[in-house]
Order: sequence, then structure tokens, then C-alpha cells
Amino acid sequence: MQVFFCCHLFSLESKMAAVFLTWVLVSAIFFEPFVNARPSPVASDKRLNSSDNEHLVTNLPGQPDVDFRHYAGYVTVNEKNGRALFYWFYEATTQPDDKPLVLWLNGGPGCSSVGYGATQEIGPFLVDNDGRGIIYNPYSWNREANMLFLESPVGVGFSYSNTTCDYSALGDDFTANDAYAFLQKWFLRFPLYRKRAFYIAGESYAGKYVPELAELILDRNSADPSLHIDLRGVLMGNPETSDAEDWTGMVDYAWSHAVISDETHQIIRKSCNFNSNDTWSNDDCNRAVDELFRQYNEIDIFSLYTSICIGDAASSDDKALQLMFTRSSTMMPRIMGGYDPCLDDYAKAFYNRPDVQKALHVSDGHRLKNWSICNHKIFKEWSDSKPSVLPIYKKLIAAGLRIWVYSGDTDGRVPVLSTRYSLGSLGLPVTKAWRPWYHQKQVSGWFQEYEGLMFATFRGAGHAVPIFKPSESLAFFSAFLQGESPPSSR
Ligand SMILES: *[C@@H]1O[C@H](CO)[C@@H](O)[C@H](O)[C@H]1NC(C)=O
Ligand SMILES: *[C@@H]1O[C@H](CO)[C@@H](O)[C@H](O)[C@H]1NC(C)=O
Ligand SMILES: *[C@@H]1O[C@H](CO)[C@@H](O)[C@H](O)[C@H]1NC(C)=O
Ligand SMILES: *[C@@H]1O[C@H](CO)[C@@H](O)[C@H](O)[C@H]1NC(C)=O
Repeated sequence: MQVFFCCHLFSLESKMAAVFLTWVLVSAIFFEPFVNARPSPVASDKRLNSSDNEHLVTNLPGQPDVDFRHYAGYVTVNEKNGRALFYWFYEATTQPDDKPLVLWLNGGPGCSSVGYGATQEIGPFLVDNDGRGIIYNPYSWNREANMLFLESPVGVGFSYSNTTCDYSALGDDFTANDAYAFLQKWFLRFPLYRKRAFYIAGESYAGKYVPELAELILDRNSADPSLHIDLRGVLMGNPETSDAEDWTGMVDYAWSHAVISDETHQIIRKSCNFNSNDTWSNDDCNRAVDELFRQYNEIDIFSLYTSICIGDAASSDDKALQLMFTRSSTMMPRIMGGYDPCLDDYAKAFYNRPDVQKALHVSDGHRLKNWSICNHKIFKEWSDSKPSVLPIYKKLIAAGLRIWVYSGDTDGRVPVLSTRYSLGSLGLPVTKAWRPWYHQKQVSGWFQEYEGLMFATFRGAGHAVPIFKPSESLAFFSAFLQGESPPSSR
């Protein structure tokens, strides 16, 4: 990749610089082209003659026949540095003009929303287990909404920057600002969606991205009504939320699910101060947390009761996974889960095919992009991570957004206890007491409603809930969009 110049200012004042550059970009872009790209008055115009035909996906290898359109390609979020984010957008299967727009984000940081969300969890095309094709997902969330998947920030999946030092400036703020710039530019390409009811959903480290982006949208909405985005709510699954509570929950969960001994648990509880910024200076704490990761390295931390991928055990990704379980990190390692634990490998094989890259408008089919499901370097070098997004929750609640949080209860990485401790510390009044919710006459999990927030569990689901409970997840998503509690009777 070509490097135009190096932005020294990024190393010291990355946040300010990123905010400033994005602001410059955003103001530069919007005023002018937005006027030219007014929504067409007649919806059917879009069907016949859309400005986005360039990104229409028409020949995805092995794609099952479907009667909705989907689009993929790059959106430049910073012209000066040459930053471009890759998206894949699926119109709703029926009546797309009447359905909301939902942005889905995966976490990492450094992991791909296309590799996980779109092709392992909730998109219409899932990677097939021969690694060479895709299969139709009857529980795709685009039955209920127009679904937009974004690979974010640069360095993730196909998304890139032509300025290498952008990569060392990555963090929460950088990500939110680029995602916001992306949305505004994406609306220029898809003007019919600009005024659409909009939701943001995501899981894992996106537990930080989602509220951060929501907050930015609210702030920008009030700063400039002409750029208004009709944000209605957020949905988060097994979300990283507040580091101190997340760590405590992870430790208690490992103990209560027989992963670590009573002794190890007691040492951690006694010697680790997860509220401190100096947690790891205590040797007893270090050793005991190492022991926890040693045990989790034997199984799949993201799904306690399923098998691990043994097939290609020597793959570099597996080694990277080990590295990522370091105690110094508060970050979310990559996901390995699902009924077929080797899904990550199939996704990698599929997205590195020349014909697939060409169909998705990421390369000409000759000079290929190097796609991987998670970028470990991004994970390790993440420079700005908010210790807690709970203060943002308060702001979103005050703004009247719909906030739903769910948790697969067999995940050990951001376990249900972490989320309960985090949400508990908000001290919100309970409006509807803990009770089961049902799907097809079975208990899918439990839920509790608070003033301003809903929390639900998924019984027997790992970290990436829809992989394990596709039908339940779709029903839950539909309830979320309608703002109705999930069914609390059989
Ligand atoms: C689509 O619309 C543009 C602008 O109105 C027009 O210039 C162009 O010829 C149209 N293309 C087709 C295929 O109708
Ligand atoms: C990045 O550089 C390549 C090669 O010069 C160029 O084709 C591409 O358009 C640039 N990307 C952006 C977003 O400017
Ligand atoms: C830790 O927190 C204290 C008190 O808030 C602060 O003075 C100190 O600089 C912090 N240390 C680091 C390494 O961030
Ligand atoms: C892709 O990245 C991997 C890991 O960084 C590297 O080993 C491989 O050579 C790269 N492939 C290409 C085609 O650049």
C-alpha cells in the first residue's frame, strides 16, 4: 500500500487530530454534495436508476437466489490520508422502504463485522463449512430490517488507510469519528435511507463502539440539524461495558462454572483491585489471573460447552489467540465459537478468493487484499479504550433511546455476570421483575426491565448469540425493533 505522508501529529495528539481531521472532512463533504444528492421523491426511482449501482453485488460466487438487493464496497472517510471503510449492505427481504436501517458492529477491537456478523451470525449468506461457498440463512436479520455491516476501523477486514501511521492512532474515539463520517457519506450514496429510523447493534467490544457512536450522533444531531440521523435505539450482546465490573464478573463466572479452583478464586478476589489503573503490579493477582487464562486456553472461553477447532491447530491465528490472553490486556480476544468452531477458517478462505473480492468491489481480482477475520496488531496496540461506557448509557437513557442488552449465558469472556454487575452499578429502578421469556414454548432465557433499559439472557448461548440461537435471536431482534418485551408466557 502506498504511503503518502506520515502524520507526526498523530503520535502525540492523536485524539485531537483525529477529531479535527474528521471534522474538516465532514464539514467539507456535507455542505456541497448533499445538496446534489437529495432523496429522489419517488421511491421506485431508486429501483430503476440508483446512484449506487456501482456497488450493487451481482455475481457473488455461489450465492443462492434471493429477491432482495445487496451492495458492497468502499466509502472514503478521509480523503487526505486515504482512509476507506468497507461495508456490505443488505436490503430487507420484503418492503425495504418501510423497514428501519440497522448498523451492525463486531468488536475485537480489530475483528470484522463481515466475517462475524454478516457471515457467521445474522446476515443472509453464511459461510459454508467447505470454506468455498455460502449458504442461505433463513434467520437472517434482514427479514426485519435493512442491515448494514461495517468493517471498522481501518485495518479491519478490507478496510484500510493509505497513511500507515493512522494505524498507530486507532482507538475508541478514532473509530467513532470514522464510523460517523462513514454514515454521512453512505447516506449520500443511499439518500433514501437518510431519514429512516436508525438503530445500532453489536456485540463484544462493540459494547464500547455502539454507545460511543450513538453519543456522537446525538451530539452532532443537535449541533447541525441538517445532518440529523434518526437514531432510535441501541442493541448490545455480551458487551464489554465497564472494565472493573467486567473483570470481576469474568473471574466469578470462571469460578462458579468450575473452570478455576476455590483457592485461585479467593486469591484473585483478595489481591486484584480491578478498579485500579495499577491492577497488575500485584504479583499474587498476576499469577492467579494467569492461572485462569491457562484453564480457559484449554477450552473455548466464548462457548464453555462446545468443542474447539482442532483441524489446523498450527495455524498462526491460534498462536495469536494465546498471545491475546495476556493479563495486561483488558481487551476482547477474538471469537472462536459456534456449533462449528472452525467457521473463522472458512470465512478466511472465502474472502481471500479473487472472484469473491471482485464481486464485492474490493479488488480487481488480481491485486488481492489480504483479508483476515481479526487484526491482532490492532488489538494489541489499541491506544484509547474507555474504561467504562456507563456514563454514556446515562446520557442515552436521558435522551430517550431504546436500550436493550442481551447476554448468552455460556460465554466466559464477557459473561452474563459481567453484564449484570455493570448494569447493576447503574442503579436503575426495576420496572418489570426478572422472569423467563419464551420462544416456541421453551424458555429462551430470562429478562428484567429497568427504567430506560432492558436486559435479557439467552439460555445456552455462547458469546456470539445468533450462531447458537438463530431463531430465538431473530424473534428477539423483531421484539426490539417493535419496542415490545419478548413473550413472557408459553
Ligand atoms: C439515471 O439518472 C441520471 C440522473 O437523473 C441520468 O443521467 C441517467 O441517464 C439515468 N440512468 C439510467 C440508466 O436511467
Ligand atoms: C489509496 O491508494 C491507492 C493507490 O494509490 C489508490 O488507488 C486509492 O484510491 C487510495 N485510497 C483512498 C481512500 O484514497
Ligand atoms: C493512575 O491513577 C492515578 C489517580 O487517578 C493517576 O494519578 C495516575 O497517573 C494513573 N496512572 C497511570 C499509569 O495511568
Ligand atoms: C497475508 O498476511 C499474512 C499474515 O500477515 C501473510 O503471512 C501473507 O503472506 C499475506 N499474504 C499476502 C498475499 O500478502
